[in-house]
Amino acid sequence: MTLLHRSLILSGVLLLVAVVLWSWQPRLKFKASLVLIVGVLSCILIQDSAAVLLQTVLIAGLLYCTKESRSTLTFSLEALGISIAIYALLILQSWLNIRQYQEWRDQFAFQSLEERLPLLKKPTVLLSPKAQEEMHEVNWRLNTPDNFYRQMALENLHARTMETFVNAPGFGVRRIIAPPTKKNLMLDQEIVIPQPGSLGDILGGKAVKEGVGPSDDKDLRAFHRDSLLDFVNPRGFGWVKSRAEVAGFQGHFFRAIPKSERWLVRNIELVGLLKHDEPVVYVTANLPRMEEIRTAKTRSLDSFEEAGLKELQQGETLYVDQSTLGLRLLGAIRASQQCISCHGGNGGELLGAFAYALSPSSGNQ
Ligand code: HEC
Repeated sequence: MTLLHRSLILSGVLLLVAVVLWSWQPRLKFKASLVLIVGVLSCILIQDSAAVLLQTVLIAGLLYCTKESRSTLTFSLEALGISIAIYALLILQSWLNIRQYQEWRDQFAFQSLEERLPLLKKPTVLLSPKAQEEMHEVNWRLNTPDNFYRQMALENLHARTMETFVNAPGFGVRRIIAPPTKKNLMLDQEIVIPQPGSLGDILGGKAVKEGVGPSDDKDLRAFHRDSLLDFVNPRGFGWVKSRAEVAGFQGHFFRAIPKSERWLVRNIELVGLLKHDEPVVYVTANLPRMEEIRTAKTRSLDSFEEAGLKELQQGETLYVDQSTLGLRLLGAIRASQQCISCHGGNGGELLGAFAYALSPSSGNQ
C-alpha cells in the first residue's frame, strides 16, 4: 500500500469520525478537540501524513467555528470539500516538484567512498580528560541545525519512499520540515586559499625556554578547533546511507584562513595518517584541500612533527615548539561521532593532524 493509499484511508476514517461526532450530543468545542486528538494520534501512530494533519486541523477548526444549527449534510459537505481541496493542492504541488527533484537527485547522486577512503581500523584510544572535553566541544559544534537540515533534505530527496512521495500527495510531515529546497541542498563553491607564507618564515629563531611540548593553551585550542571545524566542512558531509552510498558529499577544505588574536598563520599542512603506511605530510601551495591533496606530493615528518605526533597519539590535543620568530603547532584531528560513518573506528581515534606555522601578530611581540 502506498503512502497515498494509507493517507486516503486515514482521511476517510477521520471524515467519518467528524460526521459521527457532529450528530452527537456534546458541545462543539469538545467535538473539535476529539477530532484533533484522533487525527494527530493517527498521524503519529500510523503514518506521518501531512494531508491528514492538515485535514485534522481544518476540520477541527470548522467544528470550532461553525453553528450547531447547521444540518449534518451541510457539515459533511463542507468537511468533504476541505479534504478534497487539501488533496488537490498537495497533488498539484507534488506534481510540480517532480521534475525539480529529479534534477537534484542527479546533481546530488550517490557516490561511493569505499575506494577513496580506507577504513580506520585502530583500536579505541584512551583520551585524557582534557582531550575528551575537546571532543565534546567539537561534537557539539558539528551539530548545527543547518547541517542537520541539509542531511535530512538529502535523505528525503533519495529515500526509497520518494517514488510514493512524488506520486502521492500525502507526503510525510518530516519531509515538510526539511524539504529538498535549493537553500537546504546547495553548497558553497569550493575555494582555493594560497598559503599566506611558509614554514621557513619562522625557522631559525632562538628557542624559548620551556617552549617545547604538549600545550593546553586555551586560545590555541580554540584556534585549532575553529580551523578543524572549518576544514571538515560538516555541511558537506551530505547524507551517508552507507560508505558505498553517500549523497551530496563535498570534500574537506578550508574556507578561510583561521584567525587568532595572538598569531598569524604563515602555513598549514595536513599530516595524513590514513592513506599511507607511514604518516606523511602533504605539501600544498594552498591551505589543505582534499581535492588537491589527492594528487599532492608528500614528504616525511620532520623531528618536530614526529615528536608531536607521538604525543597526539597518546591523547594530547596540541603540541607546540615556540621560538623567538614564531610558533610551530601540531593539532590533533580526531574522529567525532559524525566522522565515523565515513571513516570507521569508534570515535576518538586520530585521523590526522594540522601542522601550523604561526608568527606573532602585532599585539603579541
Ligand atoms: C561523508 C563522509 C565523510 C565524513 C562524514 C568525514 N570525512 Fe573525512 N574524509 C572523507 C573522504 C572521502 C576523505 C578522503 C579524501 C577525499 O577523497 O576527499 C577524507 C579525508 C579526511 C582526512 C585526510 C586523511 C588523509 O590521510 O589523507 C582527514 C584528516 C579527515 N577526513 C578528517 C575528518 C574528520 C575529523 C571528520 C569528522 C569531523 C570527517 N573527516 C568526516 C569523507 C568524510
